[in-house]
Amino acid sequence: MPSIDDIRDALRAVIDPELRQDIVELGMVRSIDQNPDGDVHIVVSLTTPGCPIKTQFQADVTNVVSDLGGVGKITVAFDVLSSGEKGALQQKLGRGSMPQGALAQVKNVICIGSGKGGVGKSTLTSNLAAALAADGKKVGILDADVWGYSIPRMFGLGSDRPPVSPDRKIMPLEAHGVKVMSIGFFVAEDAAVVWRGPMLHKALTQFLEDVAWGELDYLLVDLPPGTGDVSMTLSQLLPQAQFIIVTTPQTTAQKVARRSAEMAHKVSLDIAGVIENMSGFTTPSGERFPIFGEGGGKDLADELDVPLLGKIPLTMPLRAQADAGTPLVITDPDDPAAQNIRQAARGIIAMTPEPLPILSIVQAEAPPLPEAPAPAGISLPMA
Ligand SMILES: Nc1ncnc2c1ncn2[C@@H]1O[C@H](COP(=O)(O)OP(=O)(O)OP(=O)(O)O)[C@@H](O)[C@H]1O
Ligand SMILES: [Mg+2]
Repeated sequence: MPSIDDIRDALRAVIDPELRQDIVELGMVRSIDQNPDGDVHIVVSLTTPGCPIKTQFQADVTNVVSDLGGVGKITVAFDVLSSGEKGALQQKLGRGSMPQGALAQVKNVICIGSGKGGVGKSTLTSNLAAALAADGKKVGILDADVWGYSIPRMFGLGSDRPPVSPDRKIMPLEAHGVKVMSIGFFVAEDAAVVWRGPMLHKALTQFLEDVAWGELDYLLVDLPPGTGDVSMTLSQLLPQAQFIIVTTPQTTAQKVARRSAEMAHKVSLDIAGVIENMSGFTTPSGERFPIFGEGGGKDLADELDVPLLGKIPLTMPLRAQADAGTPLVITDPDDPAAQNIRQAARGIIAMTPEPLPILSIVQAEAPPLPEAPAPAGISLPMA
């Protein structure tokens, strides 16, 4: 029969998928009791009562304990961390607040960043968002480029002020099936925003906490170029965010992009993948010109050991549609750049799978297959 310590050790194999650490390390194993017959009762403490990963914890805890052998019945119960315990956990993780409030119903936060400017972050963010929405996902974009915001223009959103809901939340504007929030909605057109430090922090906090994002599968965050204040602030506000790095194929660009990867690591954002943009230009006659060189995206992805989610070619319509205010994936999904962006969006969906419990419920409730129809027409001569 395993000892309580053996059981506790075994539970280190159960990882909280949001906080990315094991439940013992996180202090989420409230108690382990074992009776003389070997029955084991474990209480796991959750961060929120409606924690969506409860069923997964239940299965994982049961599995790792039963794998020890020599145990009787295993029961798993749940309680919730007190606010003091949650505070201690936050401190331990060295991060800001855990998801709550406006972001409580946001399943994935993905920041799109790059070391240098003008590599196509905003163009890709808006097209990826529209592609994800076209695939049936609920999507929002937070334009975190407070100095050089460009998302409103790319979505054809003028300078309308977002409405405020009765419970005093700012409602994001919606275009092409995507909810959008940008500082551009609040300042006079082309006015320079000179925020730094605390004010910047406050504005971004408001965008995350006071905006009625509602239920979202993906919140894409369009970062300003470089590795400055915004990225630092966001990493504190969004401990669970993942980071996608946009680079051009040039070796020098890749070096700059690597710097932003290092920054993401430093502030413990998870790097989920690389997208290479401006990856060659193909003439209408089919001749391809690698204007910005070759291979930078792959080299960077290999170096970081993350997937290369796409190589997006240069095409005029991608630029023209960004200027015209409708993402290209909507107006011309067959354009080579649009096709590659849609592929990258599928890559994002693949790397952010729905939690397993939902799958198992779907399986359990799947209706029985309909009876096969009676054969019709002439039957084939079978030997
Ligand atoms: N694959 C592409 N084909 C053609 N034009 C592109 C492509 N990618 C981006 N562009 C164009 O390049 C310019 C810069 O793109 P974008 O504004 O998206 O870059 P950014 O990285 O967000 O820039 P910043 O760092 O200033 O925020 C835009 O005019 C955009 O339309
Ligand atoms: Mg931009």
